[in-house]
Amino acid sequence: MTTINFADEPFGRIYDLMSNLVVPRPIAFVSTLSESGIPNLAPFSFFNIGGINPPSLTICTVLDGKGEQKDTCTNIEATGEFVVNLLTRSMAEGMNETSPNFPDHVNEWAYSGFTMLESELVKPARVAESPVQMECTLYQIVPHGDGPGASRYIIGQIHRMHVQSELLNGALITPADLIARLGGPQYLDLANHERFELKRPE
Ligand SMILES: Cc1cc2nc3c(=O)[nH]c(=O)nc-3n(C[C@H](O)[C@H](O)[C@H](O)COP(=O)(O)O)c2cc1C
Repeated sequence: MTTINFADEPFGRIYDLMSNLVVPRPIAFVSTLSESGIPNLAPFSFFNIGGINPPSLTICTVLDGKGEQKDTCTNIEATGEFVVNLLTRSMAEGMNETSPNFPDHVNEWAYSGFTMLESELVKPARVAESPVQMECTLYQIVPHGDGPGASRYIIGQIHRMHVQSELLNGALITPADLIARLGGPQYLDLANHERFELKRPE
């Protein structure tokens, strides 16, 4: 085994180690609205179930290379609302188009080709093409660190889950055929049990 002391490593190397080795990761495709009402859509794989009672999830948005906060975090902080949509293989390319660091006035829905579906409780729209959509409110944002790569943990409470009906069969629930993030451009397609690659757009 090789032992790596994180105290000696630059954050880029730590990102490479963590994101290539802690895999596969589910992807939250997060829909928010800015304070002035501009819709925003972006993927986050530092994401998982939080708890069940109350139902919660966590997403970690990291500060970008300039030490600036992602729009998703700023929007959730301002409005207290968001929708987490899960992703299938047919949604992967559209998701990828929303991932460049657009200025905050840009509506990423326009690049994604996805359809807005009105939510029931919160103002941000759901992604109609997604088989699992969760309407959430903010519980807490926990900052950890400062500067590029520093974490902003978003803990959300889930109020409603909209699920493709074919996945529900009484008490039996069929796991959705989602995609998961591996390292760099690599993803896993659960439907076909195979890896595929997506290059991030410029
Ligand atoms: C599959 C995928 C997963 C990502 N996961 C994260 C993540 O967990 N945390 C993060 O800060 N950025 C993540 N990113 C990068 C953000 O999506 C990207 O910075 C995006 O521009 C943020 O948008 P926003 O500023 O509108 O919130 C990911 C990108 C992709 C393609």
